[in-house]
Amino acid sequence: MKRKNSVVSREIYEDTTSILFESFQRLQVNLEYASIDSKYQVISCISSTKGEGKTTSLLNLAYVYSLKGFKVLVIDLDLRAPNVHHFFNIDNSNGITDYLVGKVSEEEIIHKNIKENYDVITAGNRVPFPAKVLESNKIIEFLEKLKKNYDYIFVDTSPFLLFADTLIISKFIDAFIFVTSVNVSKKNEIKEATKLIKSNNLNVVGSIVCQVPLTKRQNKYGYNGY
Ligand SMILES: Nc1ncnc2c1ncn2[C@@H]1O[C@H](COP(=O)(O)OP(=O)(O)OP(=O)(O)O)[C@@H](O)[C@H]1O
Ligand SMILES: [Mg+2]
Repeated sequence: MKRKNSVVSREIYEDTTSILFESFQRLQVNLEYASIDSKYQVISCISSTKGEGKTTSLLNLAYVYSLKGFKVLVIDLDLRAPNVHHFFNIDNSNGITDYLVGKVSEEEIIHKNIKENYDVITAGNRVPFPAKVLESNKIIEFLEKLKKNYDYIFVDTSPFLLFADTLIISKFIDAFIFVTSVNVSKKNEIKEATKLIKSNNLNVVGSIVCQVPLTKRQNKYGYNGY
């Protein structure tokens, strides 16, 4: 199935001279510097609500890491509305949920080399109680194993204010990037999310503002022809 907004994603992925790519590259460099003392190996994007750009941002950030020669793995843990498989047009019949419930082996769920140095584990079949699956010890054991095989692991998640899932998985996330959107985000929701982030001590180390009209920025920075 083709993704509804695949044009936007393709633009980000394929044009390494674009201002969007440049932004992700800058974020990657900053993150690498920020994690000199204690490596942020497991990274996720967090946002208050749906459609703010978490998945797009995460996949692009992972892409920049992979281009730098790091071996990266993306895991779709948005078990509410998974869509990493749509970005890459890959099969989602065997994913992380299927491994966690014991249906398939770990080898069967890793889509290797989607791009160079870039592997993906999709969400898999729907489960009735996503939070319960995310709480399991099996997922932590699996992640510890994966951390030995990858330089960086990028975990996609569901909206923070709508579900407890992000909080549940936060125990194995080293660093979060806070994502907002000029079109979707509401001030009060950002405030509420920020409060919750603080009270739960989540390690938010950066932020991304999505859907900023490119023409304005291009004009501002004098970009021409990118
Ligand atoms: N940096 C960006 N610039 C322009 N458009 C973007 C950007 N990031 C995301 N988008 C667009 O915003 C929409 C939502 O993006 P995405 O699916 O990544 O959000 P999400 O937070 O993961 O949503 P959900 O919680 O529903 O999974 C998509 O149409 C995507 O193409
Ligand atoms: Mg998403």
